[in-house]
Amino acid sequence: MSEYVLLRHRQIPNLNRLEVYQANGGFGAFRKVLTEMQPADVLNEVKTSGLRGRGGAGFPTGMKWSFLPNTLWPHYVVANGDESEPGTFKDREILENNPFQFLEGLMIASYAVQANLSFVYLRGEFWQIGKQLERCIATLERAGLLGENILGTGYSLRLVVHMGAGAYICGEETALLESIEGKLGQPRLRPPFPAVAGLYNRPTVINNVETLTNLPPILANGAGWYRSLGTEKSPGVKIFSLSGCVRRPGNYELPLGSTFRHLIEELGGGALEGRRLKAIMPAGASSSLLRVDDRVLDTPMDYESVAALGSQLGSASVIVLDDSVDLKWLLNKTVHFFKHESCGKCTPCREGTYWMSHLTERLVLPGKAQAGDAELLLAVARQMQGKCLCALGEFSTMAVTTAMQLFPEEFAER
Ligand SMILES: Cc1cc2nc3c(=O)[nH]c(=O)nc-3n(C[C@H](O)[C@H](O)[C@H](O)COP(=O)(O)O)c2cc1C
Repeated sequence: MSEYVLLRHRQIPNLNRLEVYQANGGFGAFRKVLTEMQPADVLNEVKTSGLRGRGGAGFPTGMKWSFLPNTLWPHYVVANGDESEPGTFKDREILENNPFQFLEGLMIASYAVQANLSFVYLRGEFWQIGKQLERCIATLERAGLLGENILGTGYSLRLVVHMGAGAYICGEETALLESIEGKLGQPRLRPPFPAVAGLYNRPTVINNVETLTNLPPILANGAGWYRSLGTEKSPGVKIFSLSGCVRRPGNYELPLGSTFRHLIEELGGGALEGRRLKAIMPAGASSSLLRVDDRVLDTPMDYESVAALGSQLGSASVIVLDDSVDLKWLLNKTVHFFKHESCGKCTPCREGTYWMSHLTERLVLPGKAQAGDAELLLAVARQMQGKCLCALGEFSTMAVTTAMQLFPEEFAER
């Protein structure tokens, strides 16, 4: 990667200072948007860029914005900075080191849907980031880039930072909205969707931090430039959070469509001394496992190609497992996480994660497993699938069903 699009602070020191950010082109896109473009032009440019949501689902960003009805006001934009997926740590790096690019993106999105009040939702553990963002927002207000009648254009915008209390479920967009409203963080029934009835029952766009951070370069350089990066269906760059059994874990910004081999072996340094790569979880704890072989390693990391392998790209938190990892231990860890984080609103997830957790505990403790436990675990996971109120329940079953399908020998021995 010669020039970073998102992790620009790695090349430009002190980019988290407004004067440095502006000296390097910062807020040029926001100024251009406000003074030269209509909101509909911004929306069209983002649509044309092909930008897809980086929070996990990969939904086209411009299309999401276009669902907001122009008959119902006010509109809100909420930046999702909950980042609680085990293995995902990309939004944190952006927020800590390149906060103004993220805020500029949020401001561009707000202008595009004509929101005058927008929110940044952060997981409770990000309290230092919350304080830093509040300082950045105050700096922008003093600089006349936020507040009333920005740059004399008649457009006004206020930003509010809202801290969660450290709950994975509050990354789910409707639980997040409940949390901002001061209620228990539990998902809402859909429809209605947030685009029509979101925050305070008003049309709302919810976008991931990384998604929004892509907007300033897209608006500054044009949709065509963005499309020149990545693949046709998954354009642009993505931050891959690489962790687990590799020599050089960390965040890597790459064009979508780069291969697992490039990330894990060339950049990440490959397996640890004397170890062999066994499996990959491409989307953190929520993902279906992939058994490592040449075909998987040479697969391009984009939304379509990873799905074609039977897994998900998600937020691109690539956890690498080597032959030292006991998959029964892994399942017990991940299922325990989802049981702990299940909000309890819907029965299949509340009960299913509880029973799966019982069974995975028995599988890891020597002498505790009973005949048929592995089959029962698989049956509980399959009964949950397609029946939960939100995707958390679904996520909790992914590692279970795929580990047992791809590595049956590790479960038969118990
Ligand atoms: C259980 C659960 C947890 C989630 N956690 C996050 C999160 O931490 N950050 C995030 O951006 N999206 C998270 N999502 C996805 C959001 O619901 C939503 O799709 C996303 O914020 C939309 O932004 P995007 O279109 O820019 O990707 C989560 C979804 C589920 C079901």
